[in-house]
Amino acid sequence: MSSYDVIVIGSGPGGYVAAIRCAQLGLKTACVEGRETLGGTCLNVGCIPSKALLHASHMLHEAEHNFAEMGLKGKSPSVDWKQMLTYKQSTVDSNTKGIEFLFKKNKIDWLKGWGSVPEAGKVKVGDEVHEAKNIIIATGSEPSSLPGVEVDEKVVVTSTGALELGKVPKKLVVIGAGVIGLELGSVYARLGSEVTVVEFLDAVTPGMDPEVQKVFQRMLKKQGLEFIMGAAVQKTEASKTKAKVHYKLRKDDSEHVLDADVVLVATGRKPVHDGLGIDPLGVELTKRGQIAVDKNWQTSAKGIYAIGDVIEGPMLAHKAEDEGMAVAEVIAGKHGHVNYGVIPGVIYTHPEVANVGETEATLKEAGRAYKVGKFSFMGNARAKAVFAGDGFVKILADKETDRILGAHIIGPGAGDLIHEVCVAMEFGASAQDLAMTCHAHPTYSEAVREAALACGDGPIHM
Ligand code: FAD
Ligand code: NAI
Repeated sequence: MSSYDVIVIGSGPGGYVAAIRCAQLGLKTACVEGRETLGGTCLNVGCIPSKALLHASHMLHEAEHNFAEMGLKGKSPSVDWKQMLTYKQSTVDSNTKGIEFLFKKNKIDWLKGWGSVPEAGKVKVGDEVHEAKNIIIATGSEPSSLPGVEVDEKVVVTSTGALELGKVPKKLVVIGAGVIGLELGSVYARLGSEVTVVEFLDAVTPGMDPEVQKVFQRMLKKQGLEFIMGAAVQKTEASKTKAKVHYKLRKDDSEHVLDADVVLVATGRKPVHDGLGIDPLGVELTKRGQIAVDKNWQTSAKGIYAIGDVIEGPMLAHKAEDEGMAVAEVIAGKHGHVNYGVIPGVIYTHPEVANVGETEATLKEAGRAYKVGKFSFMGNARAKAVFAGDGFVKILADKETDRILGAHIIGPGAGDLIHEVCVAMEFGASAQDLAMTCHAHPTYSEAVREAALACGDGPIHM
């Protein structure tokens, strides 16, 4: 039996970051992981492989649609799917090996296998029981199931199966117009699949700024994705090579069927904590089945903490990472903090979509007076030069104090641009502070400055 200050269960962005920070703070640390490689959902079957496929398919799209106009002529590239998957896997491998290297560097023991907590202060992995003064549960999430839909990861797949299909399907039906559905739907549309997205609600990506939702859906339609909105999927029927998707339109209850070669089920994810054996230890759950924690990420059982997708909040890698660092600081007797009001969200389609902080809907609901500064990428010289003039930056600021409350960006580099606003918000900046900051020309970030100017006396280039 080994004895540790901290044992982390799960090596995703929450778990591995917590383990590294614990070790850096001088705590003897181990991390339990049941997968064959470290890095969790994010590195193995989430953020990283999906971004590799998004990048490769975007390159193809650029070659097919924009090269000729720039005077780049010749045969456009064709898709070697097997090689694309090899590229995707090598990206994954280099990242997962990177975590293994960081574990060795920080003297973190990787306890290989599935962990459980037989009693407070003990973690069981295989036949071995280890002692831990503190336990951090970072077991993440998995795709939620949909009644009537049986996943076989070949014809009816979750995101995991969609990242390693045998071939590019002719017809792909995506259930759910959320982040996974639209990112992976974009990949296959660019690679030549006919993609139909069936969504229960009337707008894509629930919770996002309604103006962004509309522009985003219009842009995706232009890229060839078809949408059936206000449609509840009832069931799927699958053979070895084909499937049928039965759905009902909410407006008139009419029933319809779609044919598909592959069906991607992307209707949300749920926390993973079955098998940990934590119920008898008094670890309470929220109404939505997440592990409940206090402001120090401690569960209702002393010495057992939880972070990442397994607790409440957005299911995002960087949210899990921030909690990982913060909980390590708490365990080491320091102060750990996560500012949940400033967690950016990014969708890595083309163009990218990014947001942080309040939306107009949340501000209206709270009865707060606010102003809107908006600037179109059409007025941004750099964006126009690269065929990316579609989209805009919207900054929301307090009507009286001018303090920035949120931002919504759809356009080139949105996923990077949003961080300028995040930093401003962390420092409690006003829109004027952003507007008075010199921005290099010609950059996309000038559009952020112009949106900030639009909160005051008005933008220059519009
Ligand atoms: P996870 O990454 O899920 O890791 C949990 C780990 O715990 C797993 O490796 C699991 O094997 C292990 N585990 C579970 N139970 C046990 C046990 N009993 N014993 C041992 N090990 C155990 N987020 C972003 O921010 N940006 C993105 O671009 C993005 N893209 C995504 C794309 C896809 C297709 C998917 C599915 C998700 C994406 N996400 C993205 C979400 C992101 O992956 C998650 O928010 C993030 O991985 C959560 O981290 P975590 O550490 O909480 O858990
Ligand atoms: P999601 O919650 O983003 O979207 C699910 C969609 O499915 C919703 O629009 C919902 O209305 C719809 N839906 C549910 N039931 C339906 C039904 N029966 N018929 C039709 N539509 C139905 O979930 P998604 O896309 O599965 O992603 C899961 C999580 O993974 C997200 O919470 C996200 O945070 C994370 N993620 C993040 C990424 C990023 O940061 N770029 C990329 C991919 C995933």
